Amino acid sequence: MRPMLMAFLTLLVALASPVQAAEQTTVLVTGANRGLGLEYARQFAAKGYRVIGTARDPQGATELAEVAARVEALDVADTASVAALAQRLKDVPIDILVNNAGMFDRSDVSIDKVDFAVMEQTFQVNTFGPLRVTQALLPNLRLGQRKQIVNMSSQLGSVQNSDGRWYAYRASKSALNQFNKILSVELGPEGFVCVVLHPGWVRTDMGGAAATYSPEESVSGLIGVIEQLDSGKNGGYFDLKGNTLPW
Ligand SMILES: NC(=O)c1ccc[n+]([C@@H]2O[C@H](COP(=O)([O-])OP(=O)(O)OC[C@H]3O[C@@H](n4cnc5c(N)ncnc54)[C@H](OP(=O)(O)O)[C@@H]3O)[C@@H](O)[C@H]2O)c1
Repeated sequence: MRPMLMAFLTLLVALASPVQAAEQTTVLVTGANRGLGLEYARQFAAKGYRVIGTARDPQGATELAEVAARVEALDVADTASVAALAQRLKDVPIDILVNNAGMFDRSDVSIDKVDFAVMEQTFQVNTFGPLRVTQALLPNLRLGQRKQIVNMSSQLGSVQNSDGRWYAYRASKSALNQFNKILSVELGPEGFVCVVLHPGWVRTDMGGAAATYSPEESVSGLIGVIEQLDSGKNGGYFDLKGNTLPW
């Protein structure tokens, strides 16, 4: 299809869909039992969104259960777990998918410390995980109105800004950025908006106590960015304040 015609059709789809009320909006957040995922679940729920939160151990996700409409088991690194989730959610429309689950093993500070088992696990969770979940839940997202895919990346995934260390984590997020770009090109013509977001340095188990932002501050900024998403932002790489980051 010609680019001009494609842009015109995308615009028509956007104009035909009025902004959806929070109460009618379903958001699925992965890794929602603690950290930024739990805070996403809390803030989306407080705004009236219908939250489906996933956890590797749903029984232990007691704080999540207090705010989410539905808690589902999910290990994003496990193909069978992802397929089982898709089966349980068959025909359930999902408006916004937040691929938040992630891991950061900081041991690979130099080439001699690179452990390929850690490298593989990091990619399984941070990179293949979001793509695997997106692939499995695409039918649900196609049934949803907003068609937004939010991939939690990091500024550490920026190649341009890299100052070294952490081979696995940085590369896993750079590759996630590329996956997001490819998805945005493929799904944009259907009205999807796919973005990678950097939450800032946040005081979670991953970020540690010395980090800049509280989870509340970070997620409030991130949800502000998500609520402002439109087709012009498809494929973008933004921080919690909506600034574009260099690739
Ligand atoms: N905190 C920061 O400063 C910061 C900065 C930049 C980017 N980020 C990104 O933001 C996201 C959230 O980070 P966070 O700070 O909230 O991390 P966190 O406190 O360490 O929480 C990580 C979450 O991911 C889940 N998870 C890990 N492996 C998983 C798997 N295989 N399947 C499903 N869930 C899994 C954890 O579940 P369990 O409880 O079962 O382990 C937990 O819910 C991550 O993608 C991270 O890379 C964070």
